[in-house]
Amino acid sequence: MNQMIIIFGASGDLTARKLIPAIYNLYKGKHLPENFVVLGASRSNITDGEFRKKVVQESAHLKSELDSQEEDFINTFSNKLFYEDLGDDYNTSYDRLSTRIADLNNKYSTDNNYIFYLSTPPSLYEAIAKNLSDQGLTKEEDGWKRIVVEKPFGYSLETAKNLNTGLQKYFNEKQIYRIDHYLGKETVQNLLVTRFANSIFEPLWNRNYIHHIEITNAETVGVEKRGGYYDKSGALRDMFQSHLLQIVSLIVMEPPINSNAEEIRNEKVKALKSLRIMTDDETLFNNTIKGQYVASKIDGKQVKGYREEEGVNPDSKTETYAAVKFFVDNWRWKDIPFYVRTAKRMPTKVTEVVIHFKTPHHQVFKEQDINNKDNKLIIRIQPDEGVLIKFGVKVPGQGFQVERANLDFYYSSLPNANIMEAYERLLLDAMQGDATLYARADEVEAAWTFVDPILNYWERDENVNTYGYPAGTWGPRNSDDLIDDEYTWRNPGENLADDSGYCVIN
Ligand code: BG6
Repeated sequence: MNQMIIIFGASGDLTARKLIPAIYNLYKGKHLPENFVVLGASRSNITDGEFRKKVVQESAHLKSELDSQEEDFINTFSNKLFYEDLGDDYNTSYDRLSTRIADLNNKYSTDNNYIFYLSTPPSLYEAIAKNLSDQGLTKEEDGWKRIVVEKPFGYSLETAKNLNTGLQKYFNEKQIYRIDHYLGKETVQNLLVTRFANSIFEPLWNRNYIHHIEITNAETVGVEKRGGYYDKSGALRDMFQSHLLQIVSLIVMEPPINSNAEEIRNEKVKALKSLRIMTDDETLFNNTIKGQYVASKIDGKQVKGYREEEGVNPDSKTETYAAVKFFVDNWRWKDIPFYVRTAKRMPTKVTEVVIHFKTPHHQVFKEQDINNKDNKLIIRIQPDEGVLIKFGVKVPGQGFQVERANLDFYYSSLPNANIMEAYERLLLDAMQGDATLYARADEVEAAWTFVDPILNYWERDENVNTYGYPAGTWGPRNSDDLIDDEYTWRNPGENLADDSGYCVIN
């Protein structure tokens, strides 16, 4: 459907780095409607031409395209982009903006269908929504209107609720699209397919066969230029509350009736509501670990500690490592521990889910190494996207010695494996009105309900240690203590089939 995307915060980093390249790829892949306009809006006083130069014609984020495509092709794309200066403040009269939208809409026949994309700090969401509403730009009589908001969606349960009510004063829930870019990743969506399109997995997906579940999200980068934001946020807010709990909900949820957005989201909310909320200090103490990277050398290069990073308080206790053990109070998952960790400055960038199956009820053959003993299903979210099953095979020769073997699938081996980048997929969905991969208000609030007590406890209690870990390592020394019995974290390598602890020495 013909439409216009109005991006607030258009002179910011996200627009140039993610949004415009995603829209460009949609254009290249012929997914854009015939009549399509991007209107950037923010507080910089620049012209249409300057905006086009910045985010397209001279953009480092489109460099390989600029080098390889015909100039005409690039120019046809950049001519779809326009810019409107909002003045000094987002909370101002939108008269001029509204006139500009109407003019562009008439000239380019975008049929009054608008997406307002808010790539601004959340503190501006309500003001922007109100100003749009004052101009009549939220009414859907003559065309649809949608609003897309970026994370962080709130700082706590209370602030998330305020944001929700703030937006819902001006838009219906159906018009609101809360983006979580992890849901745009093919491999995250594949969690649903792995579970619900295979009769070999779903029957085992419960407490009878699963011993525990482990999710690792590791990044090699530190806080880069975002120290100011990150120091007020920390790993739990930045990654766990949003991306990781989204992954958790897809693993925990019950089968939806069908693949409609509301059916899937209903099940996800139920899943998040069934996470056991930790309330007393002892439980919180025993089931959470926070850490912070300290200066170290990686590949011979000196790397700063977190407290030395730009924008970070030199006495900061903000966590760059967070690990949480929790249980899910429902029929399917009773007593099965979930271990989830996320951190910056780890040895490799990787996100994966490991389903550890129970040892067969009766053991006929002796197997020794506990970490290598049971069946595992490893779902690799990134990189080297794929699925790995570890199962027992007989070692050739006398007796019944059992070894683990790998059965692996890689996305890259699919013919025509053109994996859409997360933003591309999500934008296209919003353009088509499909909210399946967007978080609903109650979902976000359920996630905060689980996270809030942990954050409060970490902030409140002086017994909570922030453990240091050298940049480039797998986190604090005591991180394995969180895991019951003799199990440890599977510290994954760069490649899906690498065994735990595998590393490349450069
Ligand atoms: C963002 C976080 O939401 O996700 C960043 O704010 C983090 O701190 C990023 O680096 C990770 O995304 P990805 O897609 O690179 O795993």
